Amino acid sequence: MFQNKPEEVTTMTSFADRIARAKAAYGQRLAILGHHYQTDDIIRHVDFQGDSLELARKIESLGAEHVVFCGVFFMAESAAALARPGQKVHIPRMDATCPMAEMAPASRVEQVLLALRAQGRNVIPLAYVNSTADVKAICGRFGGSVCTSANASAMLKWALDQGDAVLFLPDKNLGMNTAAQLGLPASDHHVINVQASGGRVDMQAAAKARLLLWPGACAIHHKFKPRHIEQMRQAHPGVRVLVHPECAPEVVQASDGAGSTSYLIKQCAEAAPGAVIAVGTELNLVFRLAQRHKAEDKTIIPLKALTCSNMAKISEQRLAELLESLDTAPPVTLPSNVTELSRLALERMLRICA
Ligand code: 13P
Repeated sequence: MFQNKPEEVTTMTSFADRIARAKAAYGQRLAILGHHYQTDDIIRHVDFQGDSLELARKIESLGAEHVVFCGVFFMAESAAALARPGQKVHIPRMDATCPMAEMAPASRVEQVLLALRAQGRNVIPLAYVNSTADVKAICGRFGGSVCTSANASAMLKWALDQGDAVLFLPDKNLGMNTAAQLGLPASDHHVINVQASGGRVDMQAAAKARLLLWPGACAIHHKFKPRHIEQMRQAHPGVRVLVHPECAPEVVQASDGAGSTSYLIKQCAEAAPGAVIAVGTELNLVFRLAQRHKAEDKTIIPLKALTCSNMAKISEQRLAELLESLDTAPPVTLPSNVTELSRLALERMLRICA
């Protein structure tokens, strides 16, 4: 539909102009979604911005024929699983992966889950949304579901009620932080050894635990350390420290509050003028918050400057190029059984946390 007329596209035409023109050409047939970790260059073009839960919720209400997802690949996969028939989901860079999602390959997840279940316990898999569609499909097949950082405690509570134990994956930090929120004692969880296709799981320890944790973590959030919080408190007495729950439990415990990206945004918006807030999450979001609240006399600083290189792969140039070739660009596709079962797991989450 969108014809890129070479005579109009001179080297002087900015990517922003090309994106605006493509958006105008597609009109209601196109919806662009963006995660909070995207750069401002991308965020200014999106129709809807949100955290992982808000973005997943949004899909079902979209009538657009083309959904362009500015985020990392698992987010586009979830959108593809939730999309209506005929709707096409695209991502400007198919290689914008999430290393944490790759820490739980589906074949190994299934082997480990079967090894745990072979002990006679009904182990329910609960996948953090930062996981592949194949892993979400396993959750759908074995009576489990999905969670995001915004609903992890409600979903973990639900999963614990469904069986004898929960296999939470791939983020052990989010699992432990959520367990602490629910008051689950440390003796009730166990980080499993996932090597040798489930052959190295300490079955005695696993049998005693209600929460079995996959040993994955976010490469970015895992870099925040308690010493960064101590240094921040020394440098800025009275500072409020807020972090994402993908941070290690000792970091969450040393902070003044932890929650999803939307929680962090809300806390900054609701802070009183004069507040000094250090935020421990991806830098693009922290910069945006600092800019947004500067005029209200709020000082928002990064706990440590850490960027997600995969989120940053989505550039204005790639977005412009995708939009100009949307009718022929390959959408994100999933095998039909993966679509069906990952959708089942995602819809359970959306229903439970409606
Ligand atoms: P949120 O769901 O809090 O936006 O987090 C997504 C994510 O990938 C954090 O690393």
